[in-house]
Amino acid sequence: TTDNKSLQQRLKALKEEKNAVILAHYYQEPDIQEVADFIGDSLELAKKAAQTSADIIVFAGVHFMAETAKILNPSKKVLLPDLNAGCSLAESCPPDAFQNIKSEYPDHVVVTYINCSAEIKAMSDLVCTSSNAEKIINSIPEEKEIIFAPDKNLGRYLIEKTGRNMLLWDGACIVHEAFSLDKLLELYKEHPSAMIIAHPESEDHILKTANYIGSTSGMLNFVKNSDHDTFIVATEAGILHQMQKDVPHKTLIPAPAKEDNTCACSECAFMKMNTLQKLYNCLEKETPEILLEESLMKKAHLPIQRMLEI
Ligand code: 13P
Ligand code: SF4
Repeated sequence: TTDNKSLQQRLKALKEEKNAVILAHYYQEPDIQEVADFIGDSLELAKKAAQTSADIIVFAGVHFMAETAKILNPSKKVLLPDLNAGCSLAESCPPDAFQNIKSEYPDHVVVTYINCSAEIKAMSDLVCTSSNAEKIINSIPEEKEIIFAPDKNLGRYLIEKTGRNMLLWDGACIVHEAFSLDKLLELYKEHPSAMIIAHPESEDHILKTANYIGSTSGMLNFVKNSDHDTFIVATEAGILHQMQKDVPHKTLIPAPAKEDNTCACSECAFMKMNTLQKLYNCLEKETPEILLEESLMKKAHLPIQRMLEI
């Protein structure tokens, strides 16, 4: 709308004035993606956050992503438009319960998916994202046993890919667990030439149907480089904005969600808590800000740094 266009323009001016950078995940609403300086998947956003020379980072994503940006830039101001933008995976893994498991298996190497709180990162040996998880697991000496948290679906997928036996935390992404296998198969019957692509946070039965499994950026690259014309996309529907821009002539169909899901496709309600207006307000007022204790940031920085080095 014209209102949104003018808000985007004001946001751009404000950003210049304050030497701020807007980092956005592909799951953000299109209006936000359009105004971002950089759009990426979790790994690319962490890398970008580590390199920026801006004074203020406005993170258009969820809480654990903004926390990661803060841990990588303790002296910078990191803003998140809505502090309630959480994540079901991060929520599934409270520090006390995680400490209990760690104490039970003190010799295990602890690998955590980046979708967790700073406290959990601080208890980890290595952090990974969906695009480098296999590489990170393979970097651990064969004789070592591994605890993997919090995503059991990604964990199960990694056990299959790497052949490593890992102890899995029982967490899941509510968005990627919302896909209906029956409806997906029905849809595939209507489009038998389609390629099914899925994010590894999806359940095993969905992954078994997929022609390609990969992170958000992995899926975008796959669709761009594939000779196929039609794709059924099993991940958060926000990805379709950039994907359709990349391949305007290809047909992209969001994988259908189960009957009781609030949305016909899968949208992350946490990601969608950020709006263009909230993004503007948060940069203007420089709040809400991510604030973390110095000692916590130091501890959480190590496993992230190790990941970036691998
Ligand atoms: P990636 O950006 O690593 O693909 O992760 C997807 C996701 O669910 C982010 O919350
Ligand atoms: Fe968390 Fe899933 Fe939302 Fe990503 S899509 S932020 S993993 S709930």
